[in-house]
Amino acid sequence: MTAEIIDGTKLSEKILEDVKNRIKDSKKRPGLAIVIVGDNPASEIYVGLKEKKSKEMGFQCERYDLSEDIKEEDLLKLIDDLNQKQSIHGIIVQLPLPDHMNENLIVDSVLPHKDVDGFTPVNLGNLINDNNMIVPATARACMELIKSTGIEIKGKNAVIVGRSKIVGKPVSLLLLQEHATVTICHSKTEDLREHTKNADILVAAAGKAKLIKKNMVKKGAVVIDVGINRTLKGLEGDVDFEAVKEVAGYITPVPKGVGPMTIAMLLDNILIAMKLTGK
Ligand code: GUN
Repeated sequence: MTAEIIDGTKLSEKILEDVKNRIKDSKKRPGLAIVIVGDNPASEIYVGLKEKKSKEMGFQCERYDLSEDIKEEDLLKLIDDLNQKQSIHGIIVQLPLPDHMNENLIVDSVLPHKDVDGFTPVNLGNLINDNNMIVPATARACMELIKSTGIEIKGKNAVIVGRSKIVGKPVSLLLLQEHATVTICHSKTEDLREHTKNADILVAAAGKAKLIKKNMVKKGAVVIDVGINRTLKGLEGDVDFEAVKEVAGYITPVPKGVGPMTIAMLLDNILIAMKLTGK
């Protein structure tokens, strides 16, 4: 058996087409502000992609590149200004922040209606209450990719490898909302294979190249690879793609899987935010 490859680029184009039409129908131009602190090479690449795609789609995009040693109070002041600014509907504070900063304090200072990452306590709390407002884009991307296979999620064993605020936790909650039986594994899980081999849906978001091997995957499973690891061999996902595709039913590639879908869901989140602010 060879898995069907889930084409994230193709699926993202459909979402982007819809985003484009909604912008056309709107009287306002959506505005995005991206704040990046320090010079983390991975962050540079992610932010570059968000900036490029948003501009391509007709968004106004302001980028704030701040020095590693900016004072926390100055960053909070910038976020406060962006919270007030009418032309800005979405604010992204790219993570990780430098170690000397209180990440929760900074992220929590973004107005929930402008928090297009969905990382503030209000947005994450709404997700726990099954009252979704703005949901983290990568988690939404995973769900769209899973749903695109047409499999029924209800009652299935879903195993998430990784417990980050950005992916692992929110995707677990979204799968729970769809009535999957959810297991979250992480770096301290004693026998990872013992869990993953039972997964009908496996989401790999651990940030470890080729962590998921063929013998860890159930025959016919839907495998979503969130990993983007820069290794000596180039870009690698968290899944050993060539081997795992021999047993999985569906699998996302890296690149052209979760990545383009995340950007599409982020732009969709900005339009949701624009509606929420009403400005
Ligand atoms: N760092 C890695 N992924 C993300 C993301 O989706 N949003 C933000 N703000 N930072 C990130």
